[in-house]
Amino acid sequence: MGVESELYQLREQIRDHDYRYYVLDEPIIADSDYDKLMQALLILEAKHPELVTRDSPSQRVSGMVQEGFQPMSHGRPMLSLDNCFDKDSFQTFYQRIDEKLGSGTWTLAAEPKLDGLAVNLTYEKGQLVSAATRGDGQSGEDISTNVRTMRVIPLKLRSQVIPEYIEIRGEVIMTLSAFNVLNARCLDQGQKTFVNPRNAAAGSLRQLDANITAERSLHFFAYGVGVAKGISFVTHAQMLEQLAQWGLPVNQLSTLCKNLNEAESYYQDLASKRPSLDYGIDGAVFKINEVDKQAKLGYTGRAPRYAIAYKYPAEEAQTLLENISFQVGRSGAITPVAKLKSVFVGGANVQHASLHNLHEVHRKDVRVGDTVLVRRAGDVIPEVIRPILSLRPPHAEHVKPPTHCPSCQGKIAIKDDGMHMLCLRGDACSGQMLGQIKHFVSRKAMNIDGLGDKIVQMLLAESLVRRPVDLYYLNENSVATLPRMGELSAANLIQAIEQSKAVSLGRFIYALGIPEVGWATANQLANYFGDLQAIMEADTAILERINDVGEVVAANIVSYFADDLYKDHIVALQQAGVTWHHEHMHDRSMLGMRIVITGKFANFSREELTEHCEVLGAKVSCSVSKKTDVLLCGEDAGSKLTKAQKIGVQIISQENLDSFLSQYR
Ligand code: IVH
Repeated sequence: MGVESELYQLREQIRDHDYRYYVLDEPIIADSDYDKLMQALLILEAKHPELVTRDSPSQRVSGMVQEGFQPMSHGRPMLSLDNCFDKDSFQTFYQRIDEKLGSGTWTLAAEPKLDGLAVNLTYEKGQLVSAATRGDGQSGEDISTNVRTMRVIPLKLRSQVIPEYIEIRGEVIMTLSAFNVLNARCLDQGQKTFVNPRNAAAGSLRQLDANITAERSLHFFAYGVGVAKGISFVTHAQMLEQLAQWGLPVNQLSTLCKNLNEAESYYQDLASKRPSLDYGIDGAVFKINEVDKQAKLGYTGRAPRYAIAYKYPAEEAQTLLENISFQVGRSGAITPVAKLKSVFVGGANVQHASLHNLHEVHRKDVRVGDTVLVRRAGDVIPEVIRPILSLRPPHAEHVKPPTHCPSCQGKIAIKDDGMHMLCLRGDACSGQMLGQIKHFVSRKAMNIDGLGDKIVQMLLAESLVRRPVDLYYLNENSVATLPRMGELSAANLIQAIEQSKAVSLGRFIYALGIPEVGWATANQLANYFGDLQAIMEADTAILERINDVGEVVAANIVSYFADDLYKDHIVALQQAGVTWHHEHMHDRSMLGMRIVITGKFANFSREELTEHCEVLGAKVSCSVSKKTDVLLCGEDAGSKLTKAQKIGVQIISQENLDSFLSQYR
């Protein structure tokens, strides 16, 4: 046998054993025999380095430590899911779809909502070429080197049907058993333990030294695709089947439901299986199975209308309320915070819980010394539900509202209802500034890496920074004066600040911290207006045309931009070198797609349609070939339609055009 075929066979054998061991969980050889095969491969490759391929099982670990993670944009946005928490709202979701699609014409694919982190794997001609975190949905971080170490993820797709190019989406998780082993080891070595399996999975994946990722036994389940060229799917179930055939792990609890009852039972059954699963789930995900029906339903801003996460109620636990303190937020609101005796709930240790405002404290009648019921779900801030009155000790005390701001000792204004307290010192209150700067640098805002809470606190304490704009005037020398800040970290921090200067308009608006303008609203504003000046000049009536923007938010936006203080701050940021550019939320979502347009359309000229698709990144060509992904077919179509039908190209007719395009806004 020639060396090349020997190498080929060894690699195929190892891939097959990896697949059986990691994906099927049914190994057929002993570990020692597997090691022998791997040794044989390594020896042969060492003799013939010119024959080493990127997809060889020997190429999973790289010796190099990475310097950082580069941004990587997704071919198609990675959306999130709308949530519901009870039978009624799930029923509403179901009925709305039934009305839209017609009873009996569709089914629901059901699967667990995995509690991990979403990643996007890109395979070109069957080879894993890159992997990225979800990030903000448009782009994430390049974690290719780390993902390559995960033996559950094939470097090369199995089976004969190999697509030209495909993005495969799924969840990286850490099993509970792996989590326990890892935490026990951390404890043993005197290191910090992880709060929950999801944090452990995220921390293990985002390691600059991928050897650490390799040691952390991470698992993966595939549940979707993004851009797909050279393959299309009729149903979600068919797609999952194909993913499994390619050698990707697909969750075994995925199934189909024909009606509302079946879906409700799936949700209940899954809940009863939950305690015995070796991985965390926080609900069931339901997706319309038929891909053409999915397209018909389209998307809202950030989530598809064809899917929903039906979540399990948040976990509750009892613990002692040791104290109630007050803290000031970035807008000056002063809120009571419960200090709790540490308790494990909803997958994490909880020591603090929000009490929202004084009214809440009175309404719930929680007192210091009470045993209280606390609730925590996912990443939501833990919440005190109520005291357990039978356990109330005689000395349990009502909390006394503060007379001065807990941060700057400034005067407090009490709002009309007597329950909402506000620190009026604005910029002069370090607590408010801390909140504002933390928000400004956060991941969805200016995304300044390495500027954690502690450093922000120190920068404020040392008076190096007062307002967000001051960050842009820091230099390596001034930063290096901070405690425990080495030269290298100082240089990295300054570089990260420098890099944050060019930012998308949506992020910039979000970073401003306008009351009640969250990330989604900020991006909608950016998409609607396209530039900041137009938003600054808009009146409430225009603002209210935007999804999500009601009277209150519109008024907040107008009064924010009417305030000279904020206007000056924006100018100052600009003078410091901050620039913003507009990028549409779903920009380039047709990237790489090859489209042919034929026939006449009622609402578009051919030129308009071509431009629309090209702006989103598609290639529009004149003739249909095997490479064509989609034919947009209007009335009076001729030979292009016949040819597309013959080759089996996806055809979008006039009546489906809107829903097709709505996927790629
Ligand atoms: S599908 C277009 N399926 O939930 C639909 N997501 O809230 C997008 N997740 O970022 C994702 N289990 O991290 C899908 N079976 C599942 C999932 C799942 C967990 C996570 C995923 C996503 C988030 C959306």
